[in-house]
Amino acid sequence: MIFAGILAGGVGSRMNIADMPKQFLDLGNKPIVIHTLEKFLLCERVDEIYIGVHPSWVSHMEALVVKYITHQREKIHIVEGGTDRNSTIMNIVDMIEKEYGQSKEHYIITHDSVRPFVSSRIIEENIDAVIKYKACDTVVSATDTIVVSEDALKIADIPVRSKMYQGQTPQSFQITLLKTLYEDLSDEEKEILTDACKIALVRNQDVYLVKGEVSNMKLTTITDYNIAQAMVGGNLID
Ligand code: CTP
Repeated sequence: MIFAGILAGGVGSRMNIADMPKQFLDLGNKPIVIHTLEKFLLCERVDEIYIGVHPSWVSHMEALVVKYITHQREKIHIVEGGTDRNSTIMNIVDMIEKEYGQSKEHYIITHDSVRPFVSSRIIEENIDAVIKYKACDTVVSATDTIVVSEDALKIADIPVRSKMYQGQTPQSFQITLLKTLYEDLSDEEKEILTDACKIALVRNQDVYLVKGEVSNMKLTTITDYNIAQAMVGGNLID
């Protein structure tokens, strides 16, 4: 089965423009997380959708689903998120295995709730790649030159741009593989490895690339939010 895991367990401290996490802010006429959810509902190959939400916001999320989603509501499951992004993913994985059992043919397409412009093409290509390769990441080629600095004062390196990519989401995994990799990590590694694909990399598991899109942006700052509002014809904020 194909499961979507929408990550909405964060509090959006870097955006900090309202008394709610950024994924619940309106973008145009509906909350950011609802735009994201609708993109996965559009894809018929996604069997079930799990949303990991901060424990204090579960009832709010439930109310949003009732208010905005009129079709296929039965596909949507709300799960309490964890203290960090990977814990939210693992809470979702635990719930999937509780409800659907363990299988090598269960795959999870994990996606940031705050990337509402993900396209059907990106979701479909993640599904194709994860079935074929067991692990994949969505990336765009770096257009700016990437500059590395160790001390935030001077340049340590300028890697060849043609080998540089920027990571987006979805990041997709065979669920049994992801669980095995995560359970093998020490507590210290869990602290450091904030990116789910990095967990695979440090255990020498190949992660294949899916072509992302610049518009599949992550809404992190107020500037990102205003760009997104402009894209949907919504109001900008100061
Ligand atoms: N996320 C999550 N569970 C967490 C932390 C983050 O599901 N414990 C999710 C966020 O809700 C977001 C995605 O991971 O959809 C990407 O994280 P980021 O943009 O860093 O979101 P926040 O952690 O909310 O933002 P900030 O770092 O500014 O507090």
